[in-house]
Amino acid sequence: DMTIGKICCIGAGYVGGPTCAIIAHNCPSIQVTVVDLSEERIAQWNSDRLPIFEPGLDDIVKGCRGKNLFFSTDVEKEIIEADLIFICVNTPTKNYGVGKGRAADLKYIESAARMIATVSTKSKIVVEKSTVPVKAAESIANILKANVKPGVKYQILSNPEFLAEGTAVKDLLQPDRVLIGGDQTPEGHEAIQALCWVYGHWVSKDRIITMNTWSSELSKLAANAFLAQRISSINAMSAICESTGADVTEVAHAVGMDTRIGNKFLKASVGYGGISGFGGSCFQKDVLNLVYLCECLNLPEVAEYWQQVININDYQRRRFANKIIESLFNTVTNKNIAIFGFAFKKDTGDTRESAAIYICKYLMDEGAKLHIYDPKVEEKQLITELTHPAISDDPSRVKELVTIHKDPYEAANNTHALVVCTEWDEFINYDYEKIYGSMLKPAFLFDGRIILDHQKLMGLGFNVITIGKRLQRPNVHRPYAQAPAQ
Ligand code: NAD
Ligand code: UDX
Repeated sequence: DMTIGKICCIGAGYVGGPTCAIIAHNCPSIQVTVVDLSEERIAQWNSDRLPIFEPGLDDIVKGCRGKNLFFSTDVEKEIIEADLIFICVNTPTKNYGVGKGRAADLKYIESAARMIATVSTKSKIVVEKSTVPVKAAESIANILKANVKPGVKYQILSNPEFLAEGTAVKDLLQPDRVLIGGDQTPEGHEAIQALCWVYGHWVSKDRIITMNTWSSELSKLAANAFLAQRISSINAMSAICESTGADVTEVAHAVGMDTRIGNKFLKASVGYGGISGFGGSCFQKDVLNLVYLCECLNLPEVAEYWQQVININDYQRRRFANKIIESLFNTVTNKNIAIFGFAFKKDTGDTRESAAIYICKYLMDEGAKLHIYDPKVEEKQLITELTHPAISDDPSRVKELVTIHKDPYEAANNTHALVVCTEWDEFINYDYEKIYGSMLKPAFLFDGRIILDHQKLMGLGFNVITIGKRLQRPNVHRPYAQAPAQ
């Protein structure tokens, strides 16, 4: 009997929390409990201030919480009672041992699987929602089977998540597709149908696709690799633009109008070719995961192909930081520099793998004094990122060089340069005349997201430098990507 009355989700993070809120919201007959080992995270989910910021999420959580949506640290109890379990734990890049720096670290997945195997007393559907290498479901199945109790049967499904941060609620409510992979056996099909039934409460049938487990696992890595590749492709073009006088916005527009290519993820307005290409917790990790998988499968040419997507992203970050330093007469030591935006994209407080971290690192390495403002990133989070051993080996130096501001005008006051690192909407409409007036001259503005009105800013007196385009001051025939001669 595959009726789903209770769902347990292991992992109350960016995926587990929003996904379960949407399930609870759309399936009043199902009781959904999200569990986590972190007491702090669960307490936040149960408070007025949720641990993550996502537009629209507060209302949905507050509407269901205590009715059919619960957050708990009692992992064992909720596993025992559940008919279906989502595994939504983190799968970061391994930072030790074999595959260090590339392979996905599956220790959290394994511990979740062992916990399920240890405590379960009835049959369950176990759904792998975390992003994993191909064949991870087999490892979960092996752990469960090796520890099985009499009368208990498991079906393992792969159901990767495609939500993007900042638009999680919209993506979950109106997904492009829901992907479910499972065993191609009668029991497997029955489990697939049970999960289809859950999504069927709000997603139309033609958007729910089913396939074998390995196709499903690989599709997730493939989708992220394709998306990341588009960004690296446009970023590679941006470098050519800067050396030739072409404008990457125009190139993206022309290329994107080909319906076979499409204009998304090359968008001529915001974000494309962002400050340093892509950030976020997924793209780099998942492409590296794919590269490592290819190496293990003895497919070195394929591995190298995808590795290049990462290399271009690293290159773009360094290139932008170098441009800042060069423009500021090759020295930023002791110069005040304002950083607008620290999140990896707008509408999220998430900073994982944010481009801003690397830009700040390169500037701190040169001794610049940073004045950082972000509308959503918490101060503690920001300091944690900048004092990470890979970013700075001396936390006291971070303290000395970094000031965090609650007001953008204060952050910009008395600085030599302003660097836009995140495409927050509010940055577009600031009073740049006022900002210019409060800055040291010559005042530089580096638009790493191509969101501001460059002509207008130049009119105010700013030296504007952006990505994928050389700007010229009105009536002055000098390429502005280069440092003006002293
Ligand atoms: P996260 O770090 O925000 O959340 C994971 C949570 O799992 C943490 O709170 C952690 O404490 C908890 N956890 C770990 N082991 C546990 C255990 N044994 N028992 C209970 N709780 C445990 O991670 P996330 O961003 O939600 O990502 C989760 C997975 O989803 C990853 O595999 C990621 O690749 C994938 N994914 C993420 C996104 C995204 O936008 N963040 C999108 C699609 C897919
Ligand atoms: C991504 C995938 O989009 C999502 O489907 C998957 O489930 C998780 O990973 P996310 O990382 O949350 O989602 O955000 P996304 O909008 O994809 O942006 C990732 C990074 O790429 C950001 O740093 C963003 O600024 C950058 N980006 C995006 C660009 O530089 N250019 C673009 O055109 C789009």
